[in-house]
Amino acid sequence: MTGLIEIRNVTHAYVTDTGPLPVLNDLSLSIPEGGFVAVVGPSGCGKSTLTRLIAGLMKPDRGKVWLHGDIVTSPRSTVGMAFQNPVLLEWRSILKNVMLPLEIVPTRLTRREQEDRARKLLALVGLEGFEDKRPSELSGGMRQRASLCRALVHQPEVLILDEPFGALDAFTREDLWMTMHNLKAEEPFTGVMITHDLRESIFLADQVIVLSGRPATAQHVMDIPSAGPRVLDDLYTPEAADRLNVLRRQIEIAQGRAPANAETGE
Ligand SMILES: Nc1ncnc2c1ncn2[C@@H]1O[C@H](COP(=O)(O)OP(=O)(O)OP(=O)(O)O)[C@@H](O)[C@H]1O
Ligand SMILES: [Mg+2]
Repeated sequence: MTGLIEIRNVTHAYVTDTGPLPVLNDLSLSIPEGGFVAVVGPSGCGKSTLTRLIAGLMKPDRGKVWLHGDIVTSPRSTVGMAFQNPVLLEWRSILKNVMLPLEIVPTRLTRREQEDRARKLLALVGLEGFEDKRPSELSGGMRQRASLCRALVHQPEVLILDEPFGALDAFTREDLWMTMHNLKAEEPFTGVMITHDLRESIFLADQVIVLSGRPATAQHVMDIPSAGPRVLDDLYTPEAADRLNVLRRQIEIAQGRAPANAETGE
């Protein structure tokens, strides 16, 4: 067992009125402790299904998902999740929303320590002073920042993000990319992020996995080594342009819009 998250030969189909819908086909991935993997692929190829399998919300038909050496068969408190549309409870303050998982997951923290932890995370994402506001008083970007804090408040080993910034405008999204880097530096976790944004994938992740069309398997794996903290200017280097070109081409192949040998230009 090498990765903190090991996905081995996972095959899954949904049962539908018109028969089985194969979604994942013999998918294997290994994500090391502290790694941050971005998963990209055509719409409907099975990305969200993959996150549900890692989170233990579903079991695969075939193959196994391992977390820290244990087979995942049910949801775990060591996993935090955040989605495109943060579901915050309007009748609770931002602080109380962030503290919610601590009321559900067993914790050794005192009430005071729980609150301190939530406040520390909110400060880390730039929401100091907004603790007592209601969700509707915040912008979309601010709500997503609060939702990231809530996903991390119980110190999960694994953070799963399903298109977390998909609903935000480009500038807000870039701000949140920097926030993600800060969070990762302060609150180490192993991350899996689904995204449609290739720039986002190469800026945040240390490995990008391109899934093929449905039923999806890992079609292409790209490592993104980084020397020191990343800055937005990194996205405007020739190296970044090359990576984006390769990924764009891989997506075209996954969508069936380009032949598989297009990658080599043959
Ligand atoms: N509970 C379900 N029952 C039946 N079919 C489902 C179910 N959930 C998803 N599907 C189907 O499985 C396929 C994969 O869905 P999934 O949500 O994993 O795709 P995705 O890659 O996340 O798509 P998107 O990029 O649009 O978010 C889709 O065709 C979808 O319609
Ligand atoms: Mg999805």
